[in-house]
Amino acid sequence: MNLAAVTPAIQPDQYRAVMRHFPTGVAAICATDPASGRPCGLIVGTFQALSLNPALVTFSIARTSTSWPKIRSSASFSVNLLADGQQPVCKALAGKSEDKFAAIEWNQSAYGTPHIAGSVGWIDCTIQQELDGGDHVLVIARVLEMVADDGDPLVFHGGRLGGFRESAAA
Ligand SMILES: Cc1cc2nc3c(=O)[nH]c(=O)nc-3n(C[C@H](O)[C@H](O)[C@H](O)COP(=O)(O)O)c2cc1C
Repeated sequence: MNLAAVTPAIQPDQYRAVMRHFPTGVAAICATDPASGRPCGLIVGTFQALSLNPALVTFSIARTSTSWPKIRSSASFSVNLLADGQQPVCKALAGKSEDKFAAIEWNQSAYGTPHIAGSVGWIDCTIQQELDGGDHVLVIARVLEMVADDGDPLVFHGGRLGGFRESAAA
């Protein structure tokens, strides 16, 4: 039986209503735009570890993203693992402002990528592959360098941002 032919299409509202029960971390994908020399970036909740050897990571980007074409035109980019307390950074980079970095403190890495101050981890990458992901592009990236700091991560769950809370053992 061809299941695709008999199964009604999943509506976006239903997709969102289910997926909101699955918490994610919050990562800022950033680069120096070669055209302007200015930092650019966006927020993703789809960042994932992929492979230890070789070291690969993955995330998906909406085909409507205006920042991704700038990021992918750069030789390398950074993944900034946001910390609890960096909600304003998340809000700024998930928005559509002309200068998303106006109120964000950052440093330039050895790869020329922006590293956002106060994050719990920084991963510099190059694009290995871009795959068709429907209305998104699935990006597989090779890790060039990675470093972590102490602190708790920012978590996205049920449409809200917050911190991680460990539950008591039974
Ligand atoms: C918590 C959170 C997670 C998000 N995850 C993704 C994601 O995985 N992929 C994506 O393309 N956009 C994601 N977004 C939305 C983008 O950050 C947002 O659309 C951004 O404005 C795109 O900006 P741009 O047009 O400058 O690329 C997420 C936003 C938030 C707040």
